Amino acid sequence: MARRALTFVCQNCGAVYGRWQGKCEACGEWNTIAEENAAAEARAAGPGRPARKGRPFALEPLAGEAHEAPRLPSGIAELDRVTGGGFVRGSVLLVGGDPGIGKSTLLIQTAAALARAGERAVYISGEEAVAQVRLRAERLGLGAAAVELAAETSVEDIIATLAQGKIPRLVVIDSIQTMWTDAVESAPGTVTQVRGSAQALIRFAKRSGAAVILVGHVTKDGQIAGPRVVEHMVDAVLSFEGEGAHQFRILRAVKNRFGPTDEIGVFEMTGGGLREVANPSELFLSERDLGSPGTAVFAGIEGSRPLLVEMQALVAPTTLGTPRRAVVGWDQNRLSMVLAVLEAHCGVKLSGYDVYLNVAGGLRIQEPAADLAAAAALVSSLSNAPLPPDAVFFGEVSLSGAIRPVAQSAARLKEAQKLGFGRAYVPEPARGEAAETGLALAGIGGLADLVADIAQRGSRPAGRPAELRAAARGER
Ligand code: TYD
Ligand code: MG
Repeated sequence: MARRALTFVCQNCGAVYGRWQGKCEACGEWNTIAEENAAAEARAAGPGRPARKGRPFALEPLAGEAHEAPRLPSGIAELDRVTGGGFVRGSVLLVGGDPGIGKSTLLIQTAAALARAGERAVYISGEEAVAQVRLRAERLGLGAAAVELAAETSVEDIIATLAQGKIPRLVVIDSIQTMWTDAVESAPGTVTQVRGSAQALIRFAKRSGAAVILVGHVTKDGQIAGPRVVEHMVDAVLSFEGEGAHQFRILRAVKNRFGPTDEIGVFEMTGGGLREVANPSELFLSERDLGSPGTAVFAGIEGSRPLLVEMQALVAPTTLGTPRRAVVGWDQNRLSMVLAVLEAHCGVKLSGYDVYLNVAGGLRIQEPAADLAAAAALVSSLSNAPLPPDAVFFGEVSLSGAIRPVAQSAARLKEAQKLGFGRAYVPEPARGEAAETGLALAGIGGLADLVADIAQRGSRPAGRPAELRAAARGER
């Protein structure tokens, strides 16, 4: 029998300490460390049997028959795109997201879609009463779907119930933070409880072949609350995101053992629940501010799908000692880099200006290919010169100021053409490669060429192009 050993576990990140302290050194949070029982945790980690002698097993050669993981399409195409073609039998998926973003809505819709296809789907809510879940389902027009519901929080009871009769194909646990297991002595909601409950449910999934979806809450800094460890235990982690005021919701794979992690699924939250958005470019460009300075359309790629999105910049004289650099939807470091290249190689002095950059529609872009569009929007705002409304931009800016080619130029241009764009600013080397599309292509060799091109447009009387020209000459 293990000695009763007390450990102190950070409830935010799961770091373990031998004694109590006020601040967690691993994640920097204060007052998150709580006493937990390590012996109970060790029991929860194993199958609960006493130590025994090991049993030898056969090792297999690497060469051999490989089976494609059997998948169960959810009936929601945008979700299947993110999971890589549907739920894998016996796999566990963690769906994280801010409160109110629509996790429960997405999952009740998924369960209903599966039930409609004749599969057994079970939805266990630890947060809402059965009546509340029913009410939501009715509002979504899913009242008739044969989803089996329960409001339960005891993992042992849930597993005993699910193991009866035909094994369900899909089990939704909403949320993992509300579950508790007898195998662990800690209070419900602690890291140890969440980890123990997740472990029991994962074991159930592997044993029974049911696909299990765990809902996880997200802390204020965007991590799945409490147990980072749960992220390592599950097969896939999806994050459901959206910007407060926007109706768009984006489902993104953070980790996926059975599929790609660069695909996104796009949904729109409507009065009747989540609606799939099959052509996101149209959505992201639907509220475009045509012809105003400081906006450039970026022809991007998300996973296997081209995606056009507007980048908006505002460059305004600062009143602060240290000018502000704020960015929403893009990487702060890449903005700093583009600003540095503009300053060093194009003579655009921005040290006296606040710079704001925003990706429209609440989308978060990770591609370096957005550099050229960001630079175009910034220079356009600075020189008050609107960019041609029918132009798209893509290309990576290198530290030398050269524009580097990016992958999948042809797919980007084709999408732009499909949506009625007439021209594209592309890296010079990509010009030949993508010549067959019907767009007028402007090959940009260096960022300075782009700045010169835009400054030329800024000669409208309403603008303040003199400022840019002065900046270009190095006077301020
Ligand atoms: P919910 O799925 O409960 O979010 P979560 O489980 O992530 O906390 O979604 C709640 C929000 O979604 C709520 O603010 C209302 C909105 N909503 C709609 O706009 N339309 C709908 O049909 C539904 C069901 C919810
Ligand atoms: Mg919910």
